[in-house]
Amino acid sequence: MILVTGGAGYIGSHFVLYCKEHGEQPIVLDNLVYGHKEAVPAGVPLIVGDMGDPKLLDEIFTRYPIDAVVHFAAYAYVGESVTDPAKYYLNNTVATLAVLEAMRRHGVNKFIFSSTCATYGNPVTVPMDELHPQAPINPYGQSKYFVEQILKAYSLAYSLKFVALRYFNAAGGDPEGRIGESHDPETHLIPIALQVAQGKRPQISVFGTDYDTPDGTCIRDYIHILDLAQAHQLALKRLREGADSDIFNLGSEQGYSVNEVLRICEKVSGRKIARVNEPRRAGDPPRLVASAAKARAVLGWAPTFQNLDAIIETAWKWEEKRHY
Ligand SMILES: NC(=O)c1ccc[n+]([C@@H]2O[C@H](COP(=O)([O-])OP(=O)(O)OC[C@H]3O[C@@H](n4cnc5c(N)ncnc54)[C@H](O)[C@@H]3O)[C@@H](O)[C@H]2O)c1
Repeated sequence: MILVTGGAGYIGSHFVLYCKEHGEQPIVLDNLVYGHKEAVPAGVPLIVGDMGDPKLLDEIFTRYPIDAVVHFAAYAYVGESVTDPAKYYLNNTVATLAVLEAMRRHGVNKFIFSSTCATYGNPVTVPMDELHPQAPINPYGQSKYFVEQILKAYSLAYSLKFVALRYFNAAGGDPEGRIGESHDPETHLIPIALQVAQGKRPQISVFGTDYDTPDGTCIRDYIHILDLAQAHQLALKRLREGADSDIFNLGSEQGYSVNEVLRICEKVSGRKIARVNEPRRAGDPPRLVASAAKARAVLGWAPTFQNLDAIIETAWKWEEKRHY
């Protein structure tokens, strides 16, 4: 059985659905601060509580035959992490330690960690592979970087085996539209753009139109949520087969500018998307694109969503059916 922390959130809930459809038995721990109970599929136990609570963790590990933890739970607003860093270090780093300590007490030694390209900071080379220097430029990225360091130390000292997956931009939803992206507040480009297309928001802000990129707007790498889910399952399989701890980037290896994303959102929705150009935001690198060659070679990962149109079609399906 797999304990999925943050399994009522965006990426976690898609992993839980994927797991269930691939013969795994997940159970979810989520405090619902940002998650949605409607996102957890019927039949999957949802424990509403905080991952930093050692007593609750002891109860969970005693009650369920858990062999691995897939750890999505975190706060993930970069801007807020700058104004309230304590919230990020306490939840993303300190509460994660509580999970690792509970695993130690209960002899559970397999851990899959949601890391992020934000642990790299400003790109020195693009595409970025796993050997790219790590110099996070905000407390969110640091809070995740610290966990990676803790995992390396635990893996050397104790029996823990981990896989840290450094995601680039997660995007899209369940192709059937049963679940999808629902952050409050929403800060991600694609859902905001599609909500403008639907008339739920008046316009979208484009931050920076004078970058050194072909159209002047920032370039990002978008990876479909089901391709992320597949990578987690492959990482877990590898640990269960006895592999050592490891770290992988997860991205599509394709860069799309903000203007290109908006153009595809207009094409998929068939609606015009009103935009306003704003100055650059501090800390936004011009171009973030992954090299995910290692995940393909070592995990046998084969992303199935090859272009952004197909990813945005699933996001649009969700926006049209959204129920949370
Ligand atoms: N969305 C992206 O593009 C992206 C990119 C890189 C990394 N990540 C990482 O992936 C993970 C999931 O991101 P998401 O977009 O699904 O975010 P999300 O906010 O939708 O999901 C996180 C979930 O964790 C829960 N949670 C937070 N703190 C908790 C605690 N102390 N105890 C129990 N539950 C808690 C929240 O309620 C929420 O349901 C995060 O760790 C995030 O840092 C996301």
